Amino acid sequence: MSENITDNKNNINEHDNHEHEYDGIKELKNPSPMWVIFLFFITICFSGIYAVKYFGYPNNGMDQASEYKAAVEEQKNKMITMGGAGNKLTEPQMLAAGEKIFKEKGCIACHGAKGEGNAIGPNLCDNFWINGCKPEQILGIITEGKPEKGMTSYKSSLTAAQINQVAVFVMKKLVGSNPANAKVAQGTECK
Ligand code: HEC
Repeated sequence: MSENITDNKNNINEHDNHEHEYDGIKELKNPSPMWVIFLFFITICFSGIYAVKYFGYPNNGMDQASEYKAAVEEQKNKMITMGGAGNKLTEPQMLAAGEKIFKEKGCIACHGAKGEGNAIGPNLCDNFWINGCKPEQILGIITEGKPEKGMTSYKSSLTAAQINQVAVFVMKKLVGSNPANAKVAQGTECK
């Protein structure tokens, strides 16, 4: 057994000495053309630049996760100002449409004619929120309502675009206005 191993070793060495010839098959020296080697080094440099740029430090916002986050954020902003997919209203048109809904769909019964709040619903003109001040939270409370607290769900009486319009009206026109008889703030301040 051990003899065999030594034999094999000798064989290998023998073949090495014969410039990699075995069973009459000879290894030839055929270096890759310069351009292939050049390309090879370019790919190495490229991977270095790529790694620093997309995974590197400091985070420059170009990695997949940040790009995705930015795209989602942009889409949300678009939705909130443009009234959702398919809604081609300009901002003034949107605010007017939102105001109309606010006045005609019963919001004033519980939130007051100017959104000042009354015995039923909270003040929508301050920046204090019971259910959160993020656009998706405001859309959410109008869409789903909160029946146990007396807020109507509007998902069956308004379209998504209309809910968006009235939400934009609340956020851009009511919040920050200072109506008379404003109801005392409820919830937490939106920072
Ligand atoms: C039947 C009464 C009623 C009607 C109608 C009503 N709301 Fe409300 N709304 C409430 C009450 C009560 C709350 C507070 C719920 C709570 O305590 O969380 C509320 C909460 C809200 C909030 C969240 C406020 C906060 O501080 O978190 C928004 C925004 C809102 N309503 C918008 C509207 C809009 C827009 C309409 C019309 C499309 C409307 N509401 C119609 C009673 C009503």
